[in-house]
Amino acid sequence: MNKTILILGACGQIGTELTLALRQKYGNESVVASDIRRSDLAELQDGPFEILDASDAGALRAVCEQYKIHTVYHLVAMLSATGEKFPMKAWDLNMQSLLHVLELAREGVIQKIFWPSSIAVFGPTTPKDHTPQQTIMEPSTVYGISKLAGERWCEYYFNKYGVDVRSIRYPGLISWKSQPGGGTTDYAVEIYYKALEEGRYTSFLSEQRALPMMYMDDAIRATIELTEAPAEQVKVRNSYNLAGISFDPVTIAASTEAPAEQVKVRNSYNLAGISFDPVTIAASIAGHIEGFEMDCVPDFRENIAASWPASIDDSAAQADWNWTPKYDLEAMTAAMLGNLKVKLGL
Ligand SMILES: NC(=O)c1ccc[n+]([C@@H]2O[C@H](COP(=O)([O-])OP(=O)(O)OC[C@H]3O[C@@H](n4cnc5c(N)ncnc54)[C@H](O)[C@@H]3O)[C@@H](O)[C@H]2O)c1
Repeated sequence: MNKTILILGACGQIGTELTLALRQKYGNESVVASDIRRSDLAELQDGPFEILDASDAGALRAVCEQYKIHTVYHLVAMLSATGEKFPMKAWDLNMQSLLHVLELAREGVIQKIFWPSSIAVFGPTTPKDHTPQQTIMEPSTVYGISKLAGERWCEYYFNKYGVDVRSIRYPGLISWKSQPGGGTTDYAVEIYYKALEEGRYTSFLSEQRALPMMYMDDAIRATIELTEAPAEQVKVRNSYNLAGISFDPVTIAASTEAPAEQVKVRNSYNLAGISFDPVTIAASIAGHIEGFEMDCVPDFRENIAASWPASIDDSAAQADWNWTPKYDLEAMTAAMLGNLKVKLGL
């Protein structure tokens, strides 16, 4: 019999796709989706769903006991951009919900936890390029502070109580099935919608603001691979660096114009954390959509992005659980535009 899984925050950008992937793998009944709201996606209705406030410890315990939950994927958080508007709410939600889940594991009610951290744990004093697994971490956003504190709690519960908790520092995630939920890297999703719908896009990050990014399919695969890896392989118990592709708005727009051999070089550097900016993502899209234009009007999110790494060194993830990304910028642009055309009926 499959071990039952609970997903907290299942209607969000990552939760939607993780729920579908795990149900495909283990069957609908083995994966309980939960969120504070309902999703309008028909595909998510095909299995058990609970309205659950993850900051309500009693309600969380009741659902875990009712379904005899083995593994919890904790995907509830207030993200970076929204968190800067509501710092106390972000801190309360991000910390309380994690501590409730860690406590349930300590008591033996559940057996395993996946909880994502973020590149937001790094700050202005962190080395920007190929940011190492262990380095200076002085985050300057409330979101980053909550993620860094969360990492320390995860490692503490592992060391002190043997709680089996696993974590990835996700880079910015790019997907088409569900909308992003108020982060600083949301521009790299919006740009594809606007390219198809209006042929132009105004980026809220500046031209050369490079950030590490990843296509959702890679992130979901990484999440499941890490959570299912044998425990002795999981040597990092705070959170793994994970590199996909790293780019700025200009880079994503430009990449399809680059000669194929150049794209391959970028591709092979991705594991070591190559960097792309808004101009590059715009150029990548322009290779598919003639006349696509982008301008940049940076807002408060530019300051958040400026405090984060431009590229990530994920050699620990590669060494420990054989992590390899599959999507480079070109493959991602083709997948995003192809899938969105169908979704938007274009
Ligand atoms: N998307 C990214 O690019 C990215 C990058 C780094 C880390 N992460 C992390 O991954 C996780 C998921 O991110 P996401 O992008 O899917 O976020 P999201 O905002 O899209 O989804 C979060 C979900 O949590 C739900 N939620 C909010 N408050 C709740 C509560 N009290 N109880 C239950 N559910 C509640 C929301 O309704 C939403 O469906 C978060 O921990 C986030 O910090 C995401």
